[in-house]
Amino acid sequence: METIIEFQNLEWKYENTKEFALKGINLKIQEHSFIGVVGANEQGKTSLLSAICGLIPHSFNGIYRGQVLLFGKPVREMDSLELATKVGLVFSDPEAQFTAMTVEEELAFGLENIGYSLSEIKERLEWAAQITMIEDLLDKSPYDISGGQKQRVAIACVLAMNPPIIMMDEPTSMIDPLGKRLIFDILRKLKEEKKHTLIVAEHNIEQLAPLADEMILMSDGQVVRHEPTLDFFTNPLYLREQGILPPECTEYTQWLKNEGYLTSDARLPLELDEATELILPLFQKKVVK
Ligand SMILES: Nc1ncnc2c1ncn2[C@@H]1O[C@H](COP(=O)(O)OP(=O)(O)O)[C@@H](O)[C@H]1O
Ligand SMILES: [Mg+2]
Repeated sequence: METIIEFQNLEWKYENTKEFALKGINLKIQEHSFIGVVGANEQGKTSLLSAICGLIPHSFNGIYRGQVLLFGKPVREMDSLELATKVGLVFSDPEAQFTAMTVEEELAFGLENIGYSLSEIKERLEWAAQITMIEDLLDKSPYDISGGQKQRVAIACVLAMNPPIIMMDEPTSMIDPLGKRLIFDILRKLKEEKKHTLIVAEHNIEQLAPLADEMILMSDGQVVRHEPTLDFFTNPLYLREQGILPPECTEYTQWLKNEGYLTSDARLPLELDEATELILPLFQKKVVK
């Protein structure tokens, strides 16, 4: 697979702060992978995403050393229009980005700026609205809908631009439980389409883990772990030190292995369905006895 994002020893310090927020990041992300980014607050997750979409260094003052390449080209040398066609970022606070009177205008806004034809705009809008389940909101005011709906509109705005890299920064942190589920439904659909590289910072490990191909753990401005998701969650002690808990079903299955109920080569599950498949035969054995 092709590397489309590459950090080469990136260091970044916001002006008026003492410490560097990103301390020598080296990282490669492959095309069409789904990357989960976790870590406690203030460890550099948002800064990492900002360095990919170019907000760092273009929208902040600070010290920038090393570089980030998108499709082989330094982010630092790309203007905002070029960046917008490559990467989109959804923030945790959806309201911050709205400017139009209706949801439909909001979706069309970025596309008109780039100069797409009307028919192309229509096609992109329909796809984005459908995948985010907001078709019935198109003529509403973006201020007049629920928090979860606002977040889905914000996601649709990014999807409408159809950048190859889509990032979300704690997209469910301000949303009620039902709304959260819908956001993860969108992520699942995008993953199934396999057309985008997805990078999602999120505290909700239970939902994130089954979707992510690889996990990144940020701590004190560094990428301290970057591994395939299953490997990442098979060292719970290390994770717990960082305040991260594996999915409950992974932890429970690990316990069954440690206690000898499952063989040591049993593959750990990340999802309940997988766990059930593994654990159910244990119960059945018991009944037969
Ligand atoms: N705009 C900013 N100006 C100054 N310091 C910032 C800014 N944004 C983040 N920081 C600092 O950078 C460090 C990393 O923050 P951040 O990337 O937001 O972490 P996270 O997303 O993991 O909470 C923190 O020490 C934070 O206080
Ligand atoms: Mg953050």
